This record gives sequence, C-alpha cells and structure tokens, in this order.
Amino acid sequence: MKENIKIRLFNKNDEEKVREIAWDTAFLGKPFQLLDDKKLITDFLVSYYMKHEKDMLYVAESNDKIVGYLTVCRKPLKSKLIKFFIITPLFITKLICKGHIFNSTIISAIPIALKNFIKGKFSTPELKGFCSHLHINIANDFRGKGVGTHLISAMVENLKKNNVKRVFAITISEEAAKFFEKNNFSKLKHTALIDFEKIYGTKIWLNVMGLFVK
Ligand SMILES: CC(C)(COP(=O)(O)OP(=O)(O)OC[C@H]1O[C@@H](n2cnc3c(N)ncnc32)[C@H](O)[C@@H]1OP(=O)(O)O)[C@@H](O)C(=O)NCCC(=O)NCCS
Repeated sequence: MKENIKIRLFNKNDEEKVREIAWDTAFLGKPFQLLDDKKLITDFLVSYYMKHEKDMLYVAESNDKIVGYLTVCRKPLKSKLIKFFIITPLFITKLICKGHIFNSTIISAIPIALKNFIKGKFSTPELKGFCSHLHINIANDFRGKGVGTHLISAMVENLKKNNVKRVFAITISEEAAKFFEKNNFSKLKHTALIDFEKIYGTKIWLNVMGLFVK
C-alpha cells in the first residue's frame, strides 16, 4: 500500500529521528554490525549534512512521523575539507579513546579496507563531472511504499532549480541499486570488494549510480 507522504526540509527538531534512521540503516539497511556506538557512527554519517547543508536535507513524514530522509551534498570541496580535517580525525580520536580500536572485527577490517583501496576498488574515475552526491535512507517499516521515490522527486526538482545537472550515489546494497535504476539512475560502476566476505559472510558489491538531471 502506498503511504500518504509529505516531503519537507529538515529542521533542528528532526535531528534525533534522522540519527535513528541513519543508525538503523547504516549497513545494508541494518544497524552497523562492527560497532555498537550510535552517536559515533551517526556523527560520522550525517552530522555534516545536518550542520552544513540543511537546505538540501529533506525528510519524509507520514502522520507527523519522520520515516525517511535524503541528503544532497552540493558543496563537494567544503564537504571534503570538513570531513578530512574535522569529522574523520574526531571519529578516529573517539574510536581510540572509547577503546573501539581494539575491537577484533575492526582490527581485521582495516587491512581488508586498505587492500581494496590499494587495488583501486574505491576509485571512481567514472564520476568525472559529477559533483553532488546523495544519501537516502527509509525507516524499516516504510520501505517499498514509495517514500524513497517521493524523496528523489523532490530532490530532482530542487536540483533543476539550482541548475545542478548530475548527482551520484554510492551503495553496497544491490536492492538500493535497483531502486536507483528504477528512479532513472545509471549504474556507472559495479565491482566486487575483495575479502569483505571474511567479515560479513557474504560478498559485498560496490555500486556507483549516476543521474543526469533533465
Ligand atoms: C533503498 C531505499 C532507499 C528505497 O526506498 P523505498 O521507499 O523503499 O523505495 P520505493 O518504495 O520508492 O521503491 C521504488 C522502486 O524501487 C525498487 N525497489 C525498492 N526497494 C527495492 C528492493 N528492496 N529490491 C528491489 N527493488 C526495490 C522497486 O522497483 C520499486 O518500484 P515498485 O514499488 O513499483 O516495485 C530504502 O528501501 C532503504 O532505505 N533501504 C535501506 C537503506 C539503503 O539501502 N539506502 C541506500 C543507501 S545509498
């Protein structure tokens, strides 16, 4: 059944709910399995958008309840600088101070991530000309009801007004890749990540999805 959905811009009162959805969906639509620290993970995932790009952070409401959100980054340089110089160093410092760095799964994930990085698995030359990136997450009970499609439509209208021609998303969820294709994104890259199945028990694919805004 399709829901009665209202799309609006984020405001400060939505912060907790957005963090909750980000946490619940952080890894393949489920909570992040490696680390049980909601504040730390959601600071890393959504704090930049909530602080610095509120004008492109949409929430979806059903009966006054927030059931999903979509963020677009339109300031890639600012985002890279803030993530590189503030968010990531803070994340790593807290990881160490809180003792998470000694978590055995994290320890085994580091060389695997490095191996993928060295083999170019995370490189995205096909994104030349794409500046804006997006993240979208829908609360578990509200998936498959058209909420994501409503959010994408609102975003596209905003991008047109702002003369943004291309936007991309990176996802390790095959279902999310299908959702993006249904919403007119093209699959620009589809590659199997090396050795992640040793941690997650299942092969992980990286999908780079691009939309040419018309
Ligand atoms: C992926 C996600 C954003 C899709 O939003 P949604 O509101 O559930 O999607 P919609 O109901 O608007 O679906 C639109 C179309 O996308 C496709 N689609 C959506 N979810 C799908 C799934 N799990 N498997 C296959 N196709 C899917 C369908 O073709 C659907 O059309 P239909 O209803 O006519 O069959 C949402 O399910 C979600 O948040 N998942 C978990 C987190 C995630 O993977 N986020 C993306 C990371 S960038």
